[in-house]
Amino acid sequence: MIDLSTEFVGLKLKNPLVPSASPLTKHLDNALRLEDAGAAALVMYSLFEEELQAEEAMAERFLMHAGLGHAEADGFLPDHGPFQTGLERYLEQLQTLKTRLEIPVIASLNGVSRSGWVELGQAMEQAGADALELNVYHVAADVSHSGDAVEARYLDLLFELRQVVKLPIVMKLSPYFSSLPHFVRQLEQAGAQGVTLFNRFVQPDIDLETLTVSHALQLSGPDEALLRVRWLSILFGRVKLDLAASGGVHGHEDALKMLLAGAGVVQLASALLQHGPEKLTAVLEGLTAWLTARDYASVRQLVGSMSQKHLRDPAAMERADYVHMINRYEPPRGVWR
Ligand SMILES: Cc1cc2nc3c(=O)[nH]c(=O)nc-3n(C[C@H](O)[C@H](O)[C@H](O)COP(=O)(O)O)c2cc1C
Repeated sequence: MIDLSTEFVGLKLKNPLVPSASPLTKHLDNALRLEDAGAAALVMYSLFEEELQAEEAMAERFLMHAGLGHAEADGFLPDHGPFQTGLERYLEQLQTLKTRLEIPVIASLNGVSRSGWVELGQAMEQAGADALELNVYHVAADVSHSGDAVEARYLDLLFELRQVVKLPIVMKLSPYFSSLPHFVRQLEQAGAQGVTLFNRFVQPDIDLETLTVSHALQLSGPDEALLRVRWLSILFGRVKLDLAASGGVHGHEDALKMLLAGAGVVQLASALLQHGPEKLTAVLEGLTAWLTARDYASVRQLVGSMSQKHLRDPAAMERADYVHMINRYEPPRGVWR
């Protein structure tokens, strides 16, 4: 019997497969189905601070208008009952998931202001989250904003949150940092226990008929896995914090590559959204069969075994591979001489 268990940011997990942040956790039934399918933990959908701000502004406007009528007519105003804020709804869902599921629940936060990150993070801790994933979705589009300033943004909020929250904190990153290993080391020093590599940015498209910009959300494909494999294999053994992979896992082969490269946990979203919870069971079964066929005793034995940990200079190796590949490429015969 293979030991599939793993540990991530101090959480003991029965296997390495974790549904990543997506709308699936908005419904208890879906979360229960994912647990039944074998999920080792869940990352909840993100709570977005600006949505709370917008909701607050709307509620304020509504209350002001309601109060501007004639006093004697107030009795005719409908009773709207207790108003539940977005934060209350999120915390209630977190508590429901915590009560009804046996697996750990990781809350996900996307803040805007410093106080937002800190206060909302604290609220999630108090509501019983097992860990906190910070989804810092930031597109650096300001020409006066340096790379250092972008990194400082992440580090500052992590530092502030670390002062007030005891929970393990996982930073969900984009791949667009000029020196990812250095930045991850800094996150580790600022108190992060894990990083999730990577978030997927929504890519704007241009509609050539209407000449408008569209922002349709596209699900991922397995071709996105290799970007994660590269960075996991470079980071594994060079940083102490835990590594989670997110992006492009559509089958057990993708999950295995992530683990071999160094991920302690493999997250899935698109594949589950497309194919349902059975996909998670299939990936877990495929993983187990692969390990059994090769006489592995545990998943831990696999994690990082194909990383670049023992390479003295991974950058030189990457460059040599690149030059070799480019020079060896032959244009297809019959199309080109
Ligand atoms: C419909 C949808 C909703 C998502 N919502 C969130 C979210 O709320 N917070 C977050 O950090 N990531 C969110 N993501 C990103 C996923 O968690 C994941 O990182 C990304 O899709 C890459 O994994 P995949 O290739 O398995 O889909 C969402 C992705 C999708 C497709």
